[in-house]
Order: sequence, then C-alpha cells, then structure tokens
Amino acid sequence: MHKATVRDRDINGKTALVRVDFNVPLKDGQIEDDTRIVASLPTIEYLLKHGCKVILCAHLGRPKGEVVPELSLAPCADRLSELLGKRVGFVEDCIGQEVAEKAVQMQAGDVLLLENTRFYCAEKSKNEGEMLEFAEKLAAPAELYVNDAFGAGHRNHASTYGVTKYLSPCVAGLLVEEEIEQLTRILIAPQEGFVVVLGGAKVEDKIGVIKALLPKCEKMLIGGAMSWAFFKAKGMEVGLSLCEPESVESAEEVLATMGADLQKLMLPVDVYMQNVAGDHQIKYAAADAIEPGWDALDIGDETRKSYADTILKAANVFWNGPMGKFENKPFDEGTFAVAKAMGACPGFNVVGGGDSVAAVTKMRVADAIDHISTGGGASLEFLEDGSLSAIEALDSK
Ligand code: 3PG
Repeated sequence: MHKATVRDRDINGKTALVRVDFNVPLKDGQIEDDTRIVASLPTIEYLLKHGCKVILCAHLGRPKGEVVPELSLAPCADRLSELLGKRVGFVEDCIGQEVAEKAVQMQAGDVLLLENTRFYCAEKSKNEGEMLEFAEKLAAPAELYVNDAFGAGHRNHASTYGVTKYLSPCVAGLLVEEEIEQLTRILIAPQEGFVVVLGGAKVEDKIGVIKALLPKCEKMLIGGAMSWAFFKAKGMEVGLSLCEPESVESAEEVLATMGADLQKLMLPVDVYMQNVAGDHQIKYAAADAIEPGWDALDIGDETRKSYADTILKAANVFWNGPMGKFENKPFDEGTFAVAKAMGACPGFNVVGGGDSVAAVTKMRVADAIDHISTGGGASLEFLEDGSLSAIEALDSK
C-alpha cells in the first residue's frame, strides 16, 4: 500500500485518535455481530503495545445529527472491553469538555471510546467550514490520527477526512492495510478466470462497479432484485417483482453502453416467484415466464447450478450482494447456494457486504474464504475507482 501505516511512523507513547468502523448490527441494545469490532483489534493492540493512549471514534447507523439513544456506541465499549481483556472507557460525547478531561487523565495503554460522531450533523455536513470546525474539535485531544475504518473509507466526513487537516502524522491502521492489499489482488486479477458475482436490489448502487469490472472480468453473474431490473430493461415481463425505476434506468444504461462486454454479463435463467396478488403460492418458472401478479424473489435451480459451476472454476472471485430476498425463507436458498460454491472455490475468493458475509457464515464456509471484507459500499467503491477518498487523505509512505 502506498499510504503510511502505524508501522511507518514513530507513534511511541503518543495520544492517537483512531477512527474505527463500529457500525455493527444491534438488536435491543445487544450486538448481533461483532466482526467489525474484532477486526479493529490488531491496530488497537499494536498501539497499546507501543505505549499509546488510544481514543477511538466511530459512527453507528444514520442518526441524522440527533442524539438517538438506540444508536449509542456504549455497547461497543463493553464488547471491546471483553475482547481486549481490559476496561475501555466511554464518554457520552465525542467533543468538548468531558472528552478533554478524560483524555488528560489517560495513561499509556488506556483506551477510550467516544460517542457516535453522527450525533452531530457537522460530521457529515456538506458545508466544508462547518465540517472542518467539528473535525478540529474532534482532533483536539490527540497528537496523531489513525484511520482503521475501512468500511467508511468512501465517506469524506469530519472523522474520516476532516481530522487529517489538524493532526500529523495521519496513518492507516492494520485493517485498512489488509483490506487494501487483499482487494488490490481482485483489482489487478487477470481477466482469465476472474469472476464477479453481484446481487442486491439496486442496480444504481452497483452501476459504477459493473461498468468498471465488466471489461476486466471473464464473467459477471447477476442475482437478486437487480436481475429483475435487467429483465425489465430488456422488455421482459417482471410481474410485481421489485423493480425501482432508477434500477431499470441504470440497467438500460449498462445494456446500452457496454457493447461486446455484455456477453460476459450473466442473468438468471430461472426464478422462484410468489403469487403476491393471490394465495401467496410459490412456484418455479423460467426467467421469461414470470407472470403478471407474481413476484420473483430468488434465482432458480438452473441458475444456482450454473453460477456455482462458474464460481468453482474461478481463479479469482469477488462476491457482493444476495441472490434473492435473503431475509425471507425460502428465498435465501439461492444466496446459500452461491455461499457454498464460494467456500468450495479453490481460487482466491473474496466476499463483501452484510448479507453475503452472513450467508458464508451461516453455511459455515467463512474459514474457506480468503478475504471477508468489513466494507460493503467501501469495497465496491474501491474496486470501481481503485482508491477511497478518506484513505487517500492519509500520509504517503
Ligand atoms: C457501512 O456499514 O457500510 C459503513 O459503516 C458505512 O456506513 P454508511 O453507509 O452509513 O456511511
């Protein structure tokens, strides 16, 4: 990686502001999946080993500049304390008097987690002056900045980007370094044997990565509700299947602009659909036989088999996004079939995005995946542009 990391600068004994991605799923105040907290441990432990005082900041959810108690980071401080085997302090604010007082009291090896930065609208403000003023306050107690929030690397917010104007050095953490290294292997993968699997509902969220990777890959397998947008763009019947106008427009754009590369774009040949306008019966159909009143909710058996065969032969494979309505049984089956194939693929395999990662975990194949990215949107944006704006703002090596 061309950016400096914690290993490249003298950080000994310093007070570090560390941006982590603790945007974890919570239910009734309990953390449902602590993967992102676990992933932050190597950097935190590295800093502690070097006598740093570690002040962590992060966002959780999208509270829109208001204090939303359900989106407090307090449960993350408890979980991190358990994982580190030492008490992690918590401040119910991320700037101001209380933070300053707690920071002054810190000893080498202490860890403090600040409250959700998005409780302030300045964190995400489009008004640069306002955003930077907040960033300066956030940076105030620290001497150096470490960005280890790969999942938020595509966000130019005060805590991911603004603070780099007020602290020096500004370096990447070990998670960011690992993510960039692994995803770069996908980015530079030779075309032969390079398979991209994309699912989810919105083509408009993935159009950038489709356009960037289609010329570079051997095959791109499309699943999930994105597929129905492609069907509609091709003039096929989609019944009541989820098909937002923006997705159809983006699908039309892909079909109109990608020329010969479209041969590599694989769409489902069959589906499972439900009679949502009637008795909610579920039935199998060829892709070109979706009926009015029916809702396509998963890829069908032929598609599952051909996608699995393609994945198994891949030399390099990247997967992001579910193949169907993953949250509703039995429409999680297509996603599970892809997850199993990913786990069995002997090539270099990378998975990113919440549902895809949940599926490989549920299929107990996570250990067989070479890299599980902690970033959904960030991994897609990195593969699209080859860089992430917040990471670019860090010092060069
Ligand atoms: C994520 O969950 O993808 C990251 O934490 C970024 O969150 P955001 O999309 O709300 O900025």
